Amino acid sequence: MPTTAPTATPALDHAAEAAERLLSPGHAAIVGLQWGDEGKGQTVDLLTPHFQAIARFNGGNNAGHSVHVGSEKFALHLLPSGITHPGVLCVIGNGVVVDPSPETGLLKEIQTLADRGITVDADKLQISNRAHVVMPYHRVEDGLYEALAKAGKSEITAGAIGTTGRGIGRAYADKAHRSTAIRMGDLLVPDRLHDQLRPILQIKNALLQALADLAGVDYTPFELDTLLAKAADWADALRPMIGDTTAALTDIELNKGRVLFEGANAALLDVDHGTYPYVTSSTTSALGAATGTGLAPRHLHNVLGVAKAYTSRVGGGPHPTELLDDTGEHIRTTGNEFGTTTGRPRRVGWLDLTAVKYSAQLNGCTALVLTGLSVLAGLPELKLAVAYEHDGQRLDTFPADAFVLEQATPIYQTLPGFPTGTGDATTFADLPDAAKAYVQAVEDFVGIPIKLVCVGPKRSQALPR
Ligand code: GDP
Ligand code: IMO
Ligand code: MG
Repeated sequence: MPTTAPTATPALDHAAEAAERLLSPGHAAIVGLQWGDEGKGQTVDLLTPHFQAIARFNGGNNAGHSVHVGSEKFALHLLPSGITHPGVLCVIGNGVVVDPSPETGLLKEIQTLADRGITVDADKLQISNRAHVVMPYHRVEDGLYEALAKAGKSEITAGAIGTTGRGIGRAYADKAHRSTAIRMGDLLVPDRLHDQLRPILQIKNALLQALADLAGVDYTPFELDTLLAKAADWADALRPMIGDTTAALTDIELNKGRVLFEGANAALLDVDHGTYPYVTSSTTSALGAATGTGLAPRHLHNVLGVAKAYTSRVGGGPHPTELLDDTGEHIRTTGNEFGTTTGRPRRVGWLDLTAVKYSAQLNGCTALVLTGLSVLAGLPELKLAVAYEHDGQRLDTFPADAFVLEQATPIYQTLPGFPTGTGDATTFADLPDAAKAYVQAVEDFVGIPIKLVCVGPKRSQALPR
């Protein structure tokens, strides 16, 4: 099998250079190095023509990955960001939690693409039968924890974490719990599903009613027949796509095909290594690519970490470099920093290099992509956090304790700003010297080469370096 798919889109010709700089032979993972929304979708889209399969390995529709194709913008949540390309297999791996529904989940996303002329069928998309299902009661559970937080009944609940409300953490909790879990493969066996769901619903209705009572809100119990009918509809629509994706990816690998693992969320939201408990519930770093797809990391030779030239965060949790002033407002507006999934305004701030260096090392990054550079254009000076001060002590590394990070003050290095118009650059060489110096300062601190610099979300705004 050739290592380059035969269907490379002409509009992506310039991306061949990016691929040459970013990739050595073997599989690749693209992961976020901050708190999400670094622009992972853009790099996945750009590199897709060089892979036979694009596999999501974690998260669910808490993710929102924007892909710009010509004048069109696609917001993808569960579908891998290579989905607009012909001739590449998109995979939703076993590590993902899938809300299948046409109201809020995968079937809605598939229909949205169909309305825009992109057919998603079994040749295009395979969903792991081992992936867990986000059921409607998981979303309700997220909402109830939020209501509890609002009622002041709990310090650290979904409300304080500021979840996306998509039921993600609740579905992963049931996966670990086992006896209350449903997997995509279960949807295809109605009798078994009936026997699983009956006791699960008894438990869920009792628990959710108790949560609702505690929060002082109403709760309408889920009915078995209604839920089974919905599940039967999901199964009818998705049946040809649900299968053993571990076997499918293994076949691709055995035929010397290349797999691109698309990370959702980001390293600082990793359930083990992020700013716990202000994290999501999956392994968001490249460490999860293997468990989340079933492909051993033997051929994962490229780990591309995506960082934005500033920081954004949605939801609760520490954000030492957060800007609550006019500069922050400027960055939010210029960068269009509003959630792709929830529309929430993102909490923006200066680039935190200590955090990015930690994430890059955690992921084992072989190269970095720096996005959002043009958003900083026009600011008189730029700040980079190079350490923290906590309790009178200097911290040169990222603390494991989020509550320490919460009380930490950044120590900044200041660089000169650069003029507006950087978004129009068509090569890295075109950029003003001060913008190049900013990129160099990031590379020097993190110690990993920055091979792609994005001055906007379009394909043509990704500049190889
Ligand atoms: P993802 O979740 O990592 O795929 O990123 P999103 O698409 O959710 O969010 C990226 C955010 O960064 C959007 O708000 C963009 O407007 C903003 N942004 C600013 N500059 C750039 C850039 O150069 N490239 C990309 N891809 N996004 C940028
Ligand atoms: P992409 O892939 C930004 C955040 C939520 C919340 C926390 C837990 O687009 O970068 P959850 O619903 O997962 O239980 O919420 O994690 N979060 C993200 N923030 N981008 C994302 O994904 C995110 N996925 C989860 O805002 O703070
Ligand atoms: Mg996003």
